Amino acid sequence: MLNLPKLIGHRGVKDLSPENTIESLNLAKKIGLNWIEFDVKISKDLIPILFHDDSLERTTNGTGLPIEHNYKYLKQLDAGSFFYKKSTNIYIPTFEEILFFCIKKNINFNIELKPNKGFESKTVKSIAKTLTNLKFSNQYFFSSFDLNSLIMMKKILPHSNYSFLVNDFKNNQSLSDIIVIANKYNFFCFGINLNIVNSEVIDIILENNLLVTVYSNKNISVNEANQLWSKGVNSIFIDDPTKFKLI
Ligand code: G3P
Ligand code: MG
Repeated sequence: MLNLPKLIGHRGVKDLSPENTIESLNLAKKIGLNWIEFDVKISKDLIPILFHDDSLERTTNGTGLPIEHNYKYLKQLDAGSFFYKKSTNIYIPTFEEILFFCIKKNINFNIELKPNKGFESKTVKSIAKTLTNLKFSNQYFFSSFDLNSLIMMKKILPHSNYSFLVNDFKNNQSLSDIIVIANKYNFFCFGINLNIVNSEVIDIILENNLLVTVYSNKNISVNEANQLWSKGVNSIFIDDPTKFKLI
């Protein structure tokens, strides 16, 4: 099983640098994070890229969905101006470029499968192809909120590690249901939203020999992190780790 660290950079370090960019991953590593999470989806011409949202508006000066555009268009967008409030040369990187970067910098990584709706299968296949074309010894794992994407990827890459992301326990997704799923597909971990984490949830997951990671839509504080770790949480996705002691 993977030996995950206490802190994993979230989209690089998303509160310190434009998310899901080389700049953000570089800063995360410089600060001392050796594991980094990023989101991957595909362009119209099936190139896997780092991108979080469904659509381009929030983090770039483009419009529409990434899947509606070829990478040539996506690459010339400004993916840093939303953060710096002035124009930048920061762009949406390809997943391949990021893999080369992680290999060079010795960064372990969490690939979150974030397909645009209806493109799950193409996304999984394109990511798997890019990954298997490269030789590397970095540790990594896949995660996704989309169970089918994880199952599809596991069929292609059965020996990789898989974590199921859970935002809530509504909609036929009770904790016991998802534990059955995790056991069936041999997932090693659950990534749980801070809003639904408590000691009982953590204990049940740990009793089932699964790891727990925790994410949030705002930066998790040192106090919150200490409480989570003391309850048995393995790793926390961190937006800004500067108040933490890093080795
Ligand atoms: O994997 C943890 C986290 O990245 C999941 O949420 O929306 O930031 O991708 P999101
Ligand atoms: Mg993510």
